[in-house]
Amino acid sequence: MLDVQGVFKRYATPQGPLAVLQGVDLHLGQGSSLALMGESGSGKSTLLHLIAGLDRVDAGSIRIGRQHLQQMSEAQLANWRRTEVGLVFQQFNLISSLRVEDNLGFQARLAGRFDPLWQARLVERLGLGDLLRRYPEQLSGGQQQRVALGRALASKPRLLLADEPTGSLDEASSDEVLKLLLELLADSPTSLLMVTHSQRVASRLQQIVVLQHGRLADPVEA
Ligand SMILES: Nc1ncnc2c1ncn2[C@@H]1O[C@H](COP(=O)(O)OP(=O)(O)O)[C@@H](O)[C@H]1O
Ligand SMILES: [Mg+2]
Repeated sequence: MLDVQGVFKRYATPQGPLAVLQGVDLHLGQGSSLALMGESGSGKSTLLHLIAGLDRVDAGSIRIGRQHLQQMSEAQLANWRRTEVGLVFQQFNLISSLRVEDNLGFQARLAGRFDPLWQARLVERLGLGDLLRRYPEQLSGGQQQRVALGRALASKPRLLLADEPTGSLDEASSDEVLKLLLELLADSPTSLLMVTHSQRVASRLQQIVVLQHGRLADPVEA
């Protein structure tokens, strides 16, 4: 479903070019889950941004099914992000001026994929029924992340990209959010790519890879 081949990415910095990704290969099957680990600064977020179509590779290819991201126009990339990718971040990134119910439907509406039945099911399974009229600032961190998950899944994306989604939660909230996420994905075709620093979190996913020196390695080799 997702094929990353020989991806290189460098940034221009005042100290000169910084080669972050130096030949990254990755395969993620439909409906499967993968934990991406690696030290801070190893390039995990960079790789997620490239896959999300938020930035472009310097070399190599990122393929989703038959589509090559590097061959897409900006408009096609924007459409890819809107319709096929769900994004979840450590800092939740909810829209502070919108109530929970409107945050939940926001991306799905943009994508023209708002499905009231599916949203109701997400609300039920994420336990958000009593929180729909609240604003993000009136929620705990774990509750905000459940809303962010619901928002990302409401448009039924092919790929969910999560960048340290439990990184700012305590252990109990983190476990709860992860459990809900894995339950929701268990009977869905959505694939999951999750960046995490937690070995405990990573071990719940089907596959673990470690980004090191610009490449991916199996955890045993890392
Ligand atoms: N836009 C950018 N411009 C210059 N350097 C960047 C940029 N984004 C990230 N970097 C650098 O690239 C490296 C990898 O960053 P990142 O992908 O955020 O790592 P991780 O998510 O694994 O912590 C870091 O050294 C970071 O400082
Ligand atoms: Mg990061």
